[in-house]
Amino acid sequence: MNTRVQEAINDQIAKEASSSYYYLAMASWAENQGLNGTAKFLYAQSDEERFHMLKLIKFINERGGKALIPTIAQPPSEFNSLEKVFELLLEHEILVTQSINNLVDICLQEKDYTTHNFVQWYVSEQLEEEASARNILDKIKLIDGDKDGMYMFDRDLEKSVVLTTPDESSTGN
Ligand SMILES: [Fe+2]
Ligand SMILES: [Fe+2]
Repeated sequence: MNTRVQEAINDQIAKEASSSYYYLAMASWAENQGLNGTAKFLYAQSDEERFHMLKLIKFINERGGKALIPTIAQPPSEFNSLEKVFELLLEHEILVTQSINNLVDICLQEKDYTTHNFVQWYVSEQLEEEASARNILDKIKLIDGDKDGMYMFDRDLEKSVVLTTPDESSTGN
């Protein structure tokens, strides 16, 4: 496997792993605030990021490369407000999108069209995740701290968690 491409995917593995931990910390914070629907949503987001990581690990290994399992820094444990949580989540997704775009660039520079094709799945995924984060953030801003609004928001977010736990044994190709 092309060394530069492999390095870039290993970097991406580290980013997906830290996303998973970041959202896990947010989920745990929300649970402690009594926002059980939001917690459920964020726990599911954390699982999704782990799946993104696994998919990359398996891709490298199946192509005869060597995936590296990264060290993960401790995420924050305090988030101040629900609005702050989703602001940070959106900011984080934007950074991940930039990193995916960089990976796409490297694939093209190295003429690795197989990986380029594989990475397109992540390009669409980022589009969806950014849109979803923006949508949630807009709702929180509309509610503007109203208690009844918050209660309904939390309940709606719980309902939005679709139980489509990704099949981790497959790379989705
Ligand atoms: Fe991800
Ligand atoms: Fe994500």
